[in-house]
Amino acid sequence: AHFLLLNGPNLNLLGTREPDVYGHDTLADIEHRLEARAGEQGHSLACFQSNSEGELIDRIHTARDENIACVLFNPGAFTHTSIALRDALLGTGLACIEIHLSNTAQREAFRHHSYIADIAIGTITGFGAHGYILALDAAMARAAETTE
Ligand code: DQA
Repeated sequence: AHFLLLNGPNLNLLGTREPDVYGHDTLADIEHRLEARAGEQGHSLACFQSNSEGELIDRIHTARDENIACVLFNPGAFTHTSIALRDALLGTGLACIEIHLSNTAQREAFRHHSYIADIAIGTITGFGAHGYILALDAAMARAAETTE
């Protein structure tokens, strides 16, 4: 199956951005790790990061025609603000797994609500960069189930 890893605002700063909260891995580290893991299992992964809400929406729209089995999505702060990203996922009908490096439930109250959580298959939060691997593994297991 083909998957899309989508990362929202400020995630391009991973590695140097508040490492106590977000860890030391860079986004490139995470992307390369996931591409390799997907490839090992006969799957493929496209990666896209943007700081712009509109670009993320456009990327989701494009994904509709790419036969994407699942979007692995860390929307960053747009998680807590963006009805437009929610609508993009609903409008394209793409399946999505929500990812957060930090445990947002332990943080400020404004991070407790997600506009994506109730339309996602599931959410992985609090496991740092490892959460991306957990999300990919869940997506690959689900793809195997749905093609059987
Ligand atoms: C984040 C959590 C968000 O609240 C925050 O705005 C981010 C990163 C995470 O991965 O933990 O940018 O999505």
